[in-house]
Amino acid sequence: MKKIGLIGAMDSEIAAFCRDFDAEKTHIPGIFLGKYNGYEIYICVSGIGKVNAAIAAQRLVDIFAVDCIINSGVAGGIYEKLQKLDIVISKRLTYHDFDPLDILDRNPPYTMYFDADTELSDKATKACDALNTKLCAEGKDSFCAYCGTVVSGDCFVSSAAKAKELRDKFDAYCTEMEGAAIAHTAYVNKIPFLIIRAISDFADEDAENSFDSFENVAADRAAFIVKEMLSV
Ligand code: ADE
Repeated sequence: MKKIGLIGAMDSEIAAFCRDFDAEKTHIPGIFLGKYNGYEIYICVSGIGKVNAAIAAQRLVDIFAVDCIINSGVAGGIYEKLQKLDIVISKRLTYHDFDPLDILDRNPPYTMYFDADTELSDKATKACDALNTKLCAEGKDSFCAYCGTVVSGDCFVSSAAKAKELRDKFDAYCTEMEGAAIAHTAYVNKIPFLIIRAISDFADEDAENSFDSFENVAADRAAFIVKEMLSV
């Protein structure tokens, strides 16, 4: 049976997984085991930030020997076309707060960008199409899904000037606080990974308000896409 590792930083980002996959506690605090469509699914609430995320990813590898890691949750939108609740599927990840970033190119892990698994990202794109078809059939608003660079750092970005900097410097589609650390850990362990984020805010001066309003619905949307990926 294939073992899937799912990471969300906050309870809101794993709530749908625990519910939909009938998850039960494991012997490790913060890691739950669910079953779905023939998969053994290890669901981890990591806590916020890069170190928490890296610890979570390494635990999933070392203790539960997962075959891949998917991180889903919310993010601040950076790409100008994004609307709230749109989806960003990671093409590649990097740190926006590691300076100078090319230290990572010249020292372990000898890369400053971590490429997401293309098989997983193709599945995620198809899952977004399937969800949009369902939403349309129910007369609900559809959303756009983009594949692009996700940048992570240990800060909640809430300035339009900083958002522009991330767009200009990295061609970033969205920013969050865990993805690159999970990607880095998966890369070192030679495990495929994907980051899927739904937009809760635009990383600008209104980000905190918007985050409070959209956190739950955005987290559920990203989780729903993961469930759809695992349904086929
Ligand atoms: N996650 C959701 N919104 C974010 C933001 N604006 N900055 C960092 N992480 C986020």
